[in-house]
Amino acid sequence: MATLKMQNVTKQFGRNVIAVRDFNLEVKEQEFLVLLGPSGCGKTTAMRMVAGLEEVTTGKIFIGDRDVTDLPPRKRNVSMIFQNYAVWPHMTVYDNIAFALKLKNLPAEEIDRKVKEAAGLAKIEMLLDRLPAQLSGGQQQRVAVSRAIAVNPDIFLMDEPLSNLDAKLRVSMRTELKAIHEKAGSTTVFVTHDQSEAMSMADRIVIMKDGEVIQVGSPDDVYHRSRSIFVADFIGTPPTNFMEVDVRKEGEGIHLVNSHLNLLLEPALAKHLNTYSKDKIILGVRPENMLLVSEDEAALSASCLVSEPQGSHQVVAIQLDDSIIKVIAPASPTILPGTAVHMSFKQETLRFFDPDTTLAIND
Ligand SMILES: Nc1ncnc2c1ncn2[C@@H]1O[C@H](COP(=O)(O)OP(=O)(O)OP(=O)(O)O)[C@@H](O)[C@H]1O
Ligand SMILES: [Mg+2]
Repeated sequence: MATLKMQNVTKQFGRNVIAVRDFNLEVKEQEFLVLLGPSGCGKTTAMRMVAGLEEVTTGKIFIGDRDVTDLPPRKRNVSMIFQNYAVWPHMTVYDNIAFALKLKNLPAEEIDRKVKEAAGLAKIEMLLDRLPAQLSGGQQQRVAVSRAIAVNPDIFLMDEPLSNLDAKLRVSMRTELKAIHEKAGSTTVFVTHDQSEAMSMADRIVIMKDGEVIQVGSPDDVYHRSRSIFVADFIGTPPTNFMEVDVRKEGEGIHLVNSHLNLLLEPALAKHLNTYSKDKIILGVRPENMLLVSEDEAALSASCLVSEPQGSHQVVAIQLDDSIIKVIAPASPTILPGTAVHMSFKQETLRFFDPDTTLAIND
């Protein structure tokens, strides 16, 4: 087990592509850190540099106190699992797990013990004699995990390891991987572009965009205290609703106003706008933080476009001029298309964004 530090790491491919730009990251011992971002934002490249499969263009990488920037992969003591598992088809599960241990010339009894221990963690003890072709996708995934754990790596890297699994298995493997991490205690960097996977597994999430780190924080932080419109939009399903609103200072109070909305801010929130000099902000509100209320209590009224039943609740889509916002409402009564919906906000959850910088005003 060890810490991982990436210091001002940049990776440029050819002349024009900067895949990772001035990347700084510290992963704590035994932490489960998730790199999250849209396709092409540089997640895999960042991982491959840690594993030594890709050279850095500039910057340094440390594992514990060791500067590994120029070390070949086999000297880094890092295990990496890829999206396609890459289990060797011609070897039994046992031999797949034992392979790297044999290369280390460990005594046979020790190899046997480590193989069984790693297989036990991933619950595949009963599959050790099978070939990968005789396993389901989820089972192959477990073989890849066992194989990576067996060598007792300092750092455990996983690049979208669940993306080949069907939706249901993905969700149950999340839980299993997390449980394995709890037991093995390995310092782990896990890559995904699935925000709900990131939220459910991470100690901390690193949100990336265009090769850069945009925000680092606990799942709670990035969800409730998104520092930019990009993060507020990327995290959560349905995502944050955004509305452009005028900021009107009237007497002591501050109102947020647009053609559907007139909201008098509570003092605790209004204070964030005291020193804000522009007359517009982008208001961000999560679908579960809008409440259906009676007409006279409403800050926002508009008409229901459609409602999507989800069993435990319904997601109500509401048309506001040329945009649609979504509200999570109790499952019944079903809200019919065309009916007027009256809403208020849980004010303490509101986010204010500067329309020019797209950054949060209230931190
Ligand atoms: N070997 C390469 N040569 C040139 N460009 C590359 C190379 N590898 C990656 N890139 C580019 O670098 C950028 C980052 O790619 P990377 O694979 O790291 O993204 P990613 O975040 O892992 O995306 P995904 O979620 O689709 O896997 C992309 O623009 C990609 O086209
Ligand atoms: Mg990738």
